[in-house]
Amino acid sequence: MDFKNADILSTEQFDRASLEHLFEVALKMEPFAKKEKKGDLMNGKILASLFYEPSTRTRFSFETAMKRLGGETISATEIASSSIFKGETLADTAKVVEKFADVIAIRHPESGSAQVFADNASIPVLNAGDGPNQHPSQSLLDMYTIKKECGKIDGLTIAMVGDLKYGRTVHSLSLLLRHYDVKIVLVSPDELKMPKEYLEKFDEKGLAYEEILDLGEAAKKSDVIYMTRVQKERFTDLNEYEKLKNAFVMSRGLIEEANKKAIIMHPLPRIGEISLDMDDFAGSAYFRQVENGVAVRMAMISLVLGKA
Ligand code: NCD
Repeated sequence: MDFKNADILSTEQFDRASLEHLFEVALKMEPFAKKEKKGDLMNGKILASLFYEPSTRTRFSFETAMKRLGGETISATEIASSSIFKGETLADTAKVVEKFADVIAIRHPESGSAQVFADNASIPVLNAGDGPNQHPSQSLLDMYTIKKECGKIDGLTIAMVGDLKYGRTVHSLSLLLRHYDVKIVLVSPDELKMPKEYLEKFDEKGLAYEEILDLGEAAKKSDVIYMTRVQKERFTDLNEYEKLKNAFVMSRGLIEEANKKAIIMHPLPRIGEISLDMDDFAGSAYFRQVENGVAVRMAMISLVLGKA
């Protein structure tokens, strides 16, 4: 993949070589992400963040990445309810925002919205989550975290737990894991299974996967356990959500019994899927993911702007 001037809309765009390249750049960005050094790589550049759906960490992470590299940010949040943009098409907004900024991060509730935006903006567009579809920057930081925590990706067994139907982070992550020699374990209620299209992508690459309905059993055979929140905002029937929200909960008792060496990940926010007593478990990596996210987004921004 040629990063320069590219839009990053889906993890489908990545192959193993481009992933490894991004990891190398992210590693070099770590001192800036960790506030050890002040960067100037992005001097004179502006990131526009457009968030049509609520977000704290993803937006903060993109904006922090830009600012700590010496760039600036302009942002609009909860745009769907803002009168400035009311009724304006995504295409028009894209044509306007490209005049202000050098790179755009967009989050929007509809699948495919980031693509529409990219089709209409001449500057790089980074998808920060388009409905239940994709969330590439999250999965890039997840892969980076797996590699850092485990020292490798090949040979691992990785469990994805919770809302595999609407969870865009596990959709994006699935596409990236295909480039490695891993085994996948899927843990979800029947109603929230991984969509067929992703299972077909595993099959295409000959990637082994199995569905397990017991979290303890899944934990026993997994090196990494990626927990997710049941995506309340995608449900039309809230009773259905209530029924499913705590289907799988990771607790200290469960993991101590099943697998003391496991790495526990979560894109956050957690809403009860990981009990608080997990926070000082050695393998709990969810807050470390947040720090890695800044370095990875620094890498994304500088790569698409041809500055890495
Ligand atoms: C994820 C998202 O928005 O898809 N969170 C995030 O990026 N911080 C996961 C989630 O909301 O459950």
